Amino acid sequence: MLAPIEDVTGNALRTICHKYGADLTYTVMTRVEGLARMNKSTWSRLEFKDETPTEIQLLGVKEEHFKKFLANFKPHKGFMGFNLNIGCPSPQVIKIGIGAAMIKRIAKVQKIAKIFRAEGYNFSIKTRLGLNKYEREKKAYLNIINNVDADYFIVHARDGSQSYNEPADFSVYQECVDTGRKIVANGDISNKEHIDMLKSVKVYGAMIGRAAVIDPGIFGRLKGEKILSKDDILKEYIALSEKYEEPYKYRKNVIKHAEGLVE
Ligand SMILES: Cc1cc2nc3c(=O)[nH]c(=O)nc-3n(C[C@H](O)[C@H](O)[C@H](O)COP(=O)(O)O)c2cc1C
Repeated sequence: MLAPIEDVTGNALRTICHKYGADLTYTVMTRVEGLARMNKSTWSRLEFKDETPTEIQLLGVKEEHFKKFLANFKPHKGFMGFNLNIGCPSPQVIKIGIGAAMIKRIAKVQKIAKIFRAEGYNFSIKTRLGLNKYEREKKAYLNIINNVDADYFIVHARDGSQSYNEPADFSVYQECVDTGRKIVANGDISNKEHIDMLKSVKVYGAMIGRAAVIDPGIFGRLKGEKILSKDDILKEYIALSEKYEEPYKYRKNVIKHAEGLVE
């Protein structure tokens, strides 16, 4: 899977990553409150330019917002289901009780899951290990995995207080898989050794973000496919991003990542 990255993984990058090996992609997180209010620019974040398999990632907490949004939602080609973000650690997000502030709110997350289930949608969750070190040590992530009805759980193996300078904790995946639920590993995955280790733990999938922006062909390469060089794929991405008339910031951010200018 290609991880969602705000202002980076737009339609063009999702399409290119899928073409070169990613099985599934995600829209970047969209506030369900704005969707429920029928805010036009919020709805534009859900637009697909083609049929690339994509889940729509949502951020929110109020059940009525999810219900109102779903009442107006029509699936389009490429739409594969919904993903609830309960991992975003941004202070503005935490302050209003969404993102990683929801990891401990099992009953609430379960109620939201039920809303999607009642409408027959595929539903997945993207979480961190906890809002902070305390929640991580209490294994808040296992409570979510054990108690919420989702098709699979993407586990970004850091807690909400950890920056990208601290390594993701690959050791948590075994206990996550031992719950019997489908687990997608995320955080710092970039090479074949990582994939071999994850396969030995029997995760359901691997989600790659920053390493895929540096080389959108990483998915195919890790699968052992022979594909174009990273520079050729980036050229193809730029042409597609222009064709799709994406805002310039997407290309600018991708190029910055590709040149190693972003951590
Ligand atoms: C600039 C930036 C923006 C991000 N935006 C999102 C987002 O919209 N939704 C989300 O679930 N995760 C978001 N993430 C987190 C990534 O999806 C991913 O979990 C994280 O980068 C770790 O994976 P990686 O090491 O493969 O990049 C963002 C990360 C970065 C660096």
